[in-house]
Amino acid sequence: MKLAILKERRAGEARVAATPDTVKRLKGLGLDVVVETGAGQGASIPDGAFEAGGAAIAPDLASAAADADIVFKVQRPLLPGEADVDELAPMKAGALLVSTLAPYDARDSLQAYADKGIAAFAMELMPRITRAQSMDVLSSQSNLAGYRAVLDAATQYGRAMPMMMTAAGTVAPAKLFVMGVGVAGLQAIATARRLGAVVSATDVRPATKEQVQSLGASFIAVEDEEFKAAETAGGYAKEMSDAYKAKQAELVASHIAKQDIVVTTALIPGRPAPVLISEDMVKTMKPGSVIVDLAVERGGNCPLSRPGEVVVTDNGVTIVGFTNVASRLATDASALYAKNLLNFIQPLIETGEAGPALRIDWDDQIITGTCLTRDGKVVHPTFAPDAG
Ligand code: NAI
Repeated sequence: MKLAILKERRAGEARVAATPDTVKRLKGLGLDVVVETGAGQGASIPDGAFEAGGAAIAPDLASAAADADIVFKVQRPLLPGEADVDELAPMKAGALLVSTLAPYDARDSLQAYADKGIAAFAMELMPRITRAQSMDVLSSQSNLAGYRAVLDAATQYGRAMPMMMTAAGTVAPAKLFVMGVGVAGLQAIATARRLGAVVSATDVRPATKEQVQSLGASFIAVEDEEFKAAETAGGYAKEMSDAYKAKQAELVASHIAKQDIVVTTALIPGRPAPVLISEDMVKTMKPGSVIVDLAVERGGNCPLSRPGEVVVTDNGVTIVGFTNVASRLATDASALYAKNLLNFIQPLIETGEAGPALRIDWDDQIITGTCLTRDGKVVHPTFAPDAG
């Protein structure tokens, strides 16, 4: 049984879906592992390191993907119309594709996977259940993105983060505000605290209050009845009412005017990111302050942020809109992502005397939650054509 790891070709993607360590473990399951040449380059993993882990190196996409029973990727395959290369074409019918697939943004691709007869698994849809924690790519990547966001803010900020008392005078600590305290936000708080900033944070989920405080940051939120009920069973945020958003904006507006750095991470699955910092609020910020908008790819938490750009406003506020921030730490991000994929595939492979075989319980919550297409059809409850 062949498992292929393909080189990522989307712009700005430096990660890879395997490491020499995960290759070794995949080999241990009895799989023939093939890595496309150069796949690890962006993550500082040379072909030779994959070979040392037991992989064969394929000279190009076609030979890597040909006959593969399982394909590991980081980003969804490029399809005709998106680029000169068609990454889906060389995959065989019946193959398993395990990747992030951005199903909300690329609904048309789902039919292409189905037409090709691929069983496509979108790793970002992994249910948030204890058993699946080690497969949770959103967590592993958001954690690194939250850390990197604070470092990106620090490099744009023309002052120091910690308080410094020197013979030449005292440097005041930076005031840093984190908006959205999921996985990325919590890591941003922890990182900013380590750098010595005075940190505050906000979220619409009440459970975050204690988490924020336990990290030594202060919690800022409108704690009304709607707030007390603002969490789905899956642990995600709900879209808040316009009335709540107005109250939240009023509270946040006066706070933001006093901040040096704001890191925003607020997302609602399947919806555009909520606008949390209006243009008017940006105008109240001091020259030299910095906003890092981690939600920029989903529309942004600030309307002035631009995907992939660093913008400086007329009043001197720098707004950082880097996309795919996890890829800016490609080596660690790849290592964690590769481990997530290994943990996902391992239970699906039965090793017997006749060699490895796939044994998938199609009713398992982990499978039904992530499987987009199978047997020529879009099967996921959220994306199937007859889904409500
Ligand atoms: P996310 O990336 O979907 O959103 C980031 C944060 O933005 C969330 O905390 C959300 O509440 C917040 N937000 C949304 N709208 C907002 C608004 N208007 N104002 C302020 N904040 C707003 O969230 P992420 O990082 O995926 O985490 C969601 C939850 O899932 C967390 O409770 C996390 O601890 C939990 N989780 C559970 C796992 C498990 O049990 N296996 C694994 C990973 C996370």
